[in-house]
Amino acid sequence: MGGNSDMKLIDENGIRIDGRKVDELRPIKIEAGVLKSADGSAYVEIGKNKVLAAVYGPRECHPRHMQNPAKAIVQCKYNMISFSVSDRKRPGPDRRSVEISKLISEAMEYVVFTENYPRTSIDVYIEVLQANAGTRCAGLTAAAVALADAGIPMKDIVPAVAVGKVNDQVVLDLNKEEDNYGQADLPIAMIPRTGEVLLMQMDGHLTQAEFDKALEMGVKACHEIYELQKDALRRRYAIVNGETEEEPKEPAEDVNEEA
Ligand code: CDP
Repeated sequence: MGGNSDMKLIDENGIRIDGRKVDELRPIKIEAGVLKSADGSAYVEIGKNKVLAAVYGPRECHPRHMQNPAKAIVQCKYNMISFSVSDRKRPGPDRRSVEISKLISEAMEYVVFTENYPRTSIDVYIEVLQANAGTRCAGLTAAAVALADAGIPMKDIVPAVAVGKVNDQVVLDLNKEEDNYGQADLPIAMIPRTGEVLLMQMDGHLTQAEFDKALEMGVKACHEIYELQKDALRRRYAIVNGETEEEPKEPAEDVNEEA
């Protein structure tokens, strides 16, 4: 968030540098059940962001002192792979990824019916393969689909998107340049069914009127993402047209294995 409003990121026709209108999302692709070894998984592309989420559990919580006898704990780990950004990212947790992991964990713990699984841990691993701003939102969007794919009961599926301010205009779903040189960034996650806001952070400044407009834009976009999340799960379980998809076939046995 450079706040450099001199950099022209929106032209006189209201078109952004990637060709979008101010209230337009980047192209989104969501796929559920992409990993065989995980209990649930999802792959999400939002513009140039590429994010993978895998869920393991509910499983016995270790170390035991972290167990809650009344409910499950949800532990999300957000990680950016070294090659996901233009400058190689030093592997391992840093302040930023610890913060993002904490807020995604808290958001997810609120939607999962944790009281169904006392003493367990639900572990969600979020790997950012390619980053282009809005990765916490893409990570959360992927984590929600992966949890649903794992069959874990939840209040709802959670979509997330960032809204911001660029060249004095409120814009939806900031890309990297807009995030770096814009004036404000406001990531939002919500429960579409109830309208509850699950996550909201703000970097930069917005007036009350701009904030209201940003929130309205974000909520509308969250509903669009929510439909794509549900579509991904429907495709995965082929409930479209009442058909049941064949069980995925086991991979052919490795002929060299016996030798
Ligand atoms: O990704 P998100 O917008 O949720 O978080 P951010 O902290 O606002 O980061 C914005 C963007 O900066 C990321 O999506 C990356 O594209 C980039 N970034 C980077 O290039 N190197 C880092 N170590 C961290 C972020």
